[in-house]
Amino acid sequence: MLHLWEYAFNAATLVAICTFPSTAIAAPSFLNGRDLNSFVTTERAISLQGVLNNLGPGGSKAPGAGAGYVVASPSLTDPDYFYTWTRDSALTLKMLIDEFINGNAALQTHIEDYVHAQAVLQTVASSSGSFLPAGLGLGEPKYQVNGTRFNGAWGRPQRDGPALRAIALISYSNYLIKNGESKDVKTRIWPIIQNDLSYVGQYWNSTGFDLWEEIQGSSFFTSLAQHRALAQGTVLAESIDVTCTGCDQADEVLCFLPSYWNGKYIDSNINVNDGRTGLDGNSILGSIANFDINALCDSPTFQPCNSRSLANFKVLIDTFRATYAINSDIPVGQGVAVGRYAEDVYQGGNPWYLITTAAAEFLYDAVAQWKARHNLLVDATSLAFFQDLYPTITIRKYNSASGNANSSFAQIMDAVTAYADSFVAIVEKYTPADGALAEQFDRNTGVALSAVDLTWSYAAFVTMALRRSGGYPASWGTRNIALELATCSASSTPGVYVPAVAAGAPNVTAPCSIAVNFNVDATTYYGENIYVVGSDLVLGEGDVDNSFPLGAGNYPIWSATAYLTAGATVTYQYARQEDCGHPWILESGTRSLTLPACGGAAQTTNDEITTDQGTSGNCGT
Ligand code: NOJ
Ligand code: NOJ
Repeated sequence: MLHLWEYAFNAATLVAICTFPSTAIAAPSFLNGRDLNSFVTTERAISLQGVLNNLGPGGSKAPGAGAGYVVASPSLTDPDYFYTWTRDSALTLKMLIDEFINGNAALQTHIEDYVHAQAVLQTVASSSGSFLPAGLGLGEPKYQVNGTRFNGAWGRPQRDGPALRAIALISYSNYLIKNGESKDVKTRIWPIIQNDLSYVGQYWNSTGFDLWEEIQGSSFFTSLAQHRALAQGTVLAESIDVTCTGCDQADEVLCFLPSYWNGKYIDSNINVNDGRTGLDGNSILGSIANFDINALCDSPTFQPCNSRSLANFKVLIDTFRATYAINSDIPVGQGVAVGRYAEDVYQGGNPWYLITTAAAEFLYDAVAQWKARHNLLVDATSLAFFQDLYPTITIRKYNSASGNANSSFAQIMDAVTAYADSFVAIVEKYTPADGALAEQFDRNTGVALSAVDLTWSYAAFVTMALRRSGGYPASWGTRNIALELATCSASSTPGVYVPAVAAGAPNVTAPCSIAVNFNVDATTYYGENIYVVGSDLVLGEGDVDNSFPLGAGNYPIWSATAYLTAGATVTYQYARQEDCGHPWILESGTRSLTLPACGGAAQTTNDEITTDQGTSGNCGT
């Protein structure tokens, strides 16, 4: 039995996947009289500025943010996004790094600030745990904008953050190496990357919260980023002549990736019982983050031009066609407003700007890959995707017939590009006159909603615009990646965690700690979670809002391992809560555990919770 962090769904809320008759492509009517190129040019500049406004220090909308910290959004209430998320920050910096490499030299100071900020942030202890000895703190999803810990219940850990940060820092490192700065990479930046890769190699096979911070399980987006980070880490380590701890897990993560393909589409969340179809914008975001202009379409890395990615794209987009009122008059073959997943209710469960631009980016990427390969192979898996755009298409190989603008290949490329443009046109249609990009836009009216000036919305727009104009980051080596293992295994390599002092991290030392395996027998209702609050820092120092979450992998036994200060007598209590504004239910008595001195054996509790389960109330409505 698995537990939803925040919202519970039942089958009745699921939206059926409808099929539509295919029609030939025609220009969307709202494009008439508008120039998409000029919109993209203008909005791209607004978006880059929008990102910089939310960046510390000195960003006009990020007062108090430390140097190199990316504020998710200036929105302070409903939702309060005035925090720095590792995921949003890494994706944003990847964009800034690509823009920098592409010629925008002024961005380097921000990148350098980020390097420093992340070296520090890695060492911050939080409810996810401490940095030393086992890297647990690296799974913390968000921090205060001055780089201190965030106190509060949250969906943790989130294991995409370290992988995405490593990918961003590796891109920057590769640039520096090309410019003769290998030594600097080796001494200053690699130690940060190595910590993150250690975390990935150690925990890739442990469940965590998805990028939407809602469900604990295995997430396609996370696994894809984890594989890429380890694969690129391997190559970088070789080039600067260091050992990469954890990178040996790359083949295992790759071996795991096909588990997300269910024969029809990518099930974005597996090892969960979440009552959803698994059709999720997660999959598109994963593919575009893995894009390699040099990749072959049959690469096991779920490239945009891959048949499975394309089949998934069609099924996913068609669910949104059927979900949002603003999409209802748009025929197949034309872009629609795209959200996280059809069952979403968060902030009204509306389309998102960043996912609609991601849909366009995905298609630009695929076209770029076919053009670079000079051919397109349509197979039974991808056929339905193409039929919506080019009804006479058949299962076969289309060659570019070099330079023949009327070839079928050229016509198909034009059709897919027009399809990509039609998603951008949706974003144009629902972007307010000042170009501000919030998180969502209303599913019925198209009016901008939820967090204002969302950094990630802006970053996603810039990345899409770069692809649309033919800008592609350097290959990340997918040509050398193949499924090597005959059988996959659930393995893990213990990480090596060292503060990246040369990049500015404080030289934290491990308080000599003892592993405590908390186990408590607790029956919960669907959605309710169990936590430990106690005297140790990792247990929240008595503050229940900062307590240590347990996992339900062995339900009804809730368990997790915490590293607590050796030699101390720890007092603790179990608490339960469904995190949607419900009050905590805390045990009345206090338990106590005396830990052995430094070097002593791990401890195990086998407790039984003394409180009854709460009532589920109206979470998620
Ligand atoms: C659930 C939302 O879906 C998620 O994206 C958000 O970050 C958390 N709640 C916290 O507000
Ligand atoms: C909610 C989103 O679901 C999550 O992915 C994001 O990290 C935060 N908002 C901050 O933007």
